[in-house]
Amino acid sequence: MVEFMLPANSKITKGKTVRAPAGATRIKNFKVYRFDPDSGENPRWDIFEVDLDTCGPMVLDALLKIKNEMDSTLAFRRSCREGVCGSCAFNIGDSVGGTNTLACTKPIDDIKGDITISPLPHLPVIKDLVADLSVPYAQYTSIEPWLQADTPPPPGERLQSPEEREKLDGLWECILCFCCQTSCPSYWWNGDRYLGAAILLQSYRWIADSRDEATGKRLDDLDDPFKLYRCHTIMNCTSTCPKGLNPGKAIGEIKTALIKRR
Ligand code: SF4
Ligand code: SF4
Ligand code: FES
Repeated sequence: MVEFMLPANSKITKGKTVRAPAGATRIKNFKVYRFDPDSGENPRWDIFEVDLDTCGPMVLDALLKIKNEMDSTLAFRRSCREGVCGSCAFNIGDSVGGTNTLACTKPIDDIKGDITISPLPHLPVIKDLVADLSVPYAQYTSIEPWLQADTPPPPGERLQSPEEREKLDGLWECILCFCCQTSCPSYWWNGDRYLGAAILLQSYRWIADSRDEATGKRLDDLDDPFKLYRCHTIMNCTSTCPKGLNPGKAIGEIKTALIKRR
């Protein structure tokens, strides 16, 4: 049997515990992944005892409270705090396991017991909960995510029928949080060449757009054993999407479009 050894610095050590203020009666433990590449130290789990009586209802509220009142060195991304910007995506769960989701729309009460928060999986970590999104963003750029048409625009707007517009529902709502992308085993193993669930859903958003005239070129580019066909319909992507979208179905639509034009 093959044995794999992890490098010594990949082991996650036990970190510090920051206590809740004296007198707090409704305490919830938040176990948070910490990593500072400049320190030369291994990653660690820090535990923060958060007083829920002085904290908002969402996991992001707890992270903000931790940063503002308990440890200002904690690094994480957030912006809109209402499920629109896609920047607060982490792996959030209990002591058994987690799922990729948005901290700002995840109620603390949804999780029984201690809450564990770590960066989106299988991406390099810049610091603490900040994953390096350089590769997914480069992949997004590669699909040319804008409307392409040689036909000069009519006066006013490029119109669509209600039926044509409806085809974009379930696609335009994607906020590029990459929860789906980083939940996919195929992307974990082939992330340098497989485009991944979020990028393929975005590709299909333009293929499905009746106003776009680059469909042929877009399909040519995706007709590749790695870029598209590393999707094996495992559907982790669809189960984890915090916006309720279905990247697995969008990927299936691309495959169908490729078969139809043969
Ligand atoms: S359907 Fe499965 S293999 Fe395809 S992108 Fe989603 S999780 Fe990955
Ligand atoms: S499909 Fe869902 S999970 Fe994937 S990037 Fe878009 S919003 Fe996030
Ligand atoms: S902070 Fe914008 S989606 Fe959570």
